[in-house]
Amino acid sequence: MKAVILVGGEGTRLRPLTCNIPKPMVPILNRPFLEHVVEYLRGHGVRELFLALCYMPDKIQKHFGDGRGFGISITYAMEESPLGTAGAVKNLEEHLNDTFFVLNGDTFTDLDLSAMLAFHKQRKARATIAVTPVENPTVYGVVETNSQGEVHRFVEKPSWEAVTTNMVNAGCYLLEPELLQHIPPRTYFMFEYGLFPALLKLGTPLYAYPSRGYWIDIGTPQKYLQVHKDLLLSKAIAKILGEPTHKTVWLGEGCQIHSTAEVSGPVLLGEGCVLGPRSRIKGPAVLGPGCIMGESSSVEEAVLWRGVRIGKGVNIRKCVVGENASIGDSAWIIEGPVIGDNASVGSGNKLKNDFILWPGKTLKPDSISF
Ligand code: GTP
Repeated sequence: MKAVILVGGEGTRLRPLTCNIPKPMVPILNRPFLEHVVEYLRGHGVRELFLALCYMPDKIQKHFGDGRGFGISITYAMEESPLGTAGAVKNLEEHLNDTFFVLNGDTFTDLDLSAMLAFHKQRKARATIAVTPVENPTVYGVVETNSQGEVHRFVEKPSWEAVTTNMVNAGCYLLEPELLQHIPPRTYFMFEYGLFPALLKLGTPLYAYPSRGYWIDIGTPQKYLQVHKDLLLSKAIAKILGEPTHKTVWLGEGCQIHSTAEVSGPVLLGEGCVLGPRSRIKGPAVLGPGCIMGESSSVEEAVLWRGVRIGKGVNIRKCVVGENASIGDSAWIIEGPVIGDNASVGSGNKLKNDFILWPGKTLKPDSISF
């Protein structure tokens, strides 16, 4: 079975986390997001993977190579300028000669792809779109169907008055290769606004496969934190991380935890983390490899990337801190800020809500308080 993953977007909503790496490479539980997706696809029998690249392609290609190390064959297609979701798949047309999956490269899901394929074949669909229920359909593409699951209308980002269903496009499709003839070559073209509505007009059998499984688009810092929380609190976490080292704490090799430090799970610590005296981590939380926490500092419901250095008496809660950032003594970073890679928060700063510190920037001591 073949699958295409769309990994060419700039990930603007996830900035500053996507300033130095593309969205599919952001760490989820200390592993690049795309590694989780590759494992998921392999579990559903996908053996040939095609990655449609555009933004920071080298970072993805260098990590995955030809895919052999990940138990799958990977072929890359490059776009000089973005071709859109459908244009990117058209670009791979020469490789796609049988039913294939297309996935957005920013959704974390356990949707049953094997059952979706059976549904597609049984209905003799030409395209099947996975749909999932959401609380707020007004920011997604709504897919209306009849009782057999046949699509009769798409409504992109409807107003609340126009909402007729909460089932939205989950960014996962099964397509027959002949449909690619309806996508113009080397042209920016989208599935959502372009191909699917055009196919409906032509009377092509399009079906929606309803999934009630886990589904989240990791495209914003809030959702990025949410996926960590969901996974760490889920029953399936041991399948992903293996058995915990102690109760609900997963410790990497060589961590040094002071006898007065407190860690209450679920918490994942990468290798070589150092927790100082009276420091405290309250899960769900993740620290990347080599993070250092100073005396009496606290981290709660946060995700820290590798090499973050935290001074004394620091308070970090519900935020994301990028690679090799440093946080000075007595700083508070709470309820939503995102600190970019290699940024430095001077001592005594108090940051909250949607505050962003861009990669490499320095915030002088005591500059901001709430
Ligand atoms: P934002 O800038 O935050 O909207 O993120 P995005 O553009 O990366 O993601 P969006 O949700 O808009 O797109 C859904 C998926 O399609 C993501 O996995 C993107 O990587 C991918 N994608 C979007 N546009 C393109 C494109 O022009 N080419 C390719 N290859 N992939 C794309």
